[in-house]
Amino acid sequence: MHCWSLTSSSEDQTTQIGHCLGRCLDAPLLILLRGNLGAGKTVIARGIARGLGVAAEVPITSPTFTLMNHYPARLDLYHFDLYRLSGPEDLRDIGFDEYAYGRGVALVEWPEKLEDPDVHGLWLDICPVDENRRRLTFSGKGPAVGTTMIAVHKELQDAGFAIEREE
Ligand SMILES: Nc1ncnc2c1ncn2[C@@H]1O[C@H](COP(=O)(O)OP(=O)(O)OP(=O)(O)O)[C@@H](O)[C@H]1O
Ligand SMILES: [Mg+2]
Repeated sequence: MHCWSLTSSSEDQTTQIGHCLGRCLDAPLLILLRGNLGAGKTVIARGIARGLGVAAEVPITSPTFTLMNHYPARLDLYHFDLYRLSGPEDLRDIGFDEYAYGRGVALVEWPEKLEDPDVHGLWLDICPVDENRRRLTFSGKGPAVGTTMIAVHKELQDAGFAIEREE
């Protein structure tokens, strides 16, 4: 399994890291964004959206009450925030699987709410180090994620980020 980390020192850097990831996406993918309240999940989601081609003037905000926002882009982007999910039946009601395993890119905040805690996809853990620094750990679960992980790794290195292997 591919797994590595890097540190972001500011909100802008986290957006830039998201942008690098978004630029590499050229096939459907499920991206799981894990981290506490205020960790930076929506910040990196915004960067990913811009990298996928969502115009700068389109606001990217947490879909906390709507559960999902859709942004047409190079690939359709479906941004979920499952914090307020009351149960698996909510997932079925919103047709989660069709988006998560469809033709677009699905970003999921609070993936802990999914029934399968080990779902295949690109897992991104965001861990606050201090007020402005975040440790970002990328790990690929499942066979389909490997090529994206390699492309993102290169893109981030080319952008000057120091990447540390986790295992
Ligand atoms: N390096 C950093 N990367 C990302 N955000 C940072 C960083 N440093 C400080 N911040 C701040 O942390 C906050 C992150 O907010 P964000 O809405 O992205 O969190 P979230 O993980 O989506 O939380 P929630 O679970 O409530 O949706 C913002 O206020 C942002 O300015
Ligand atoms: Mg959020």
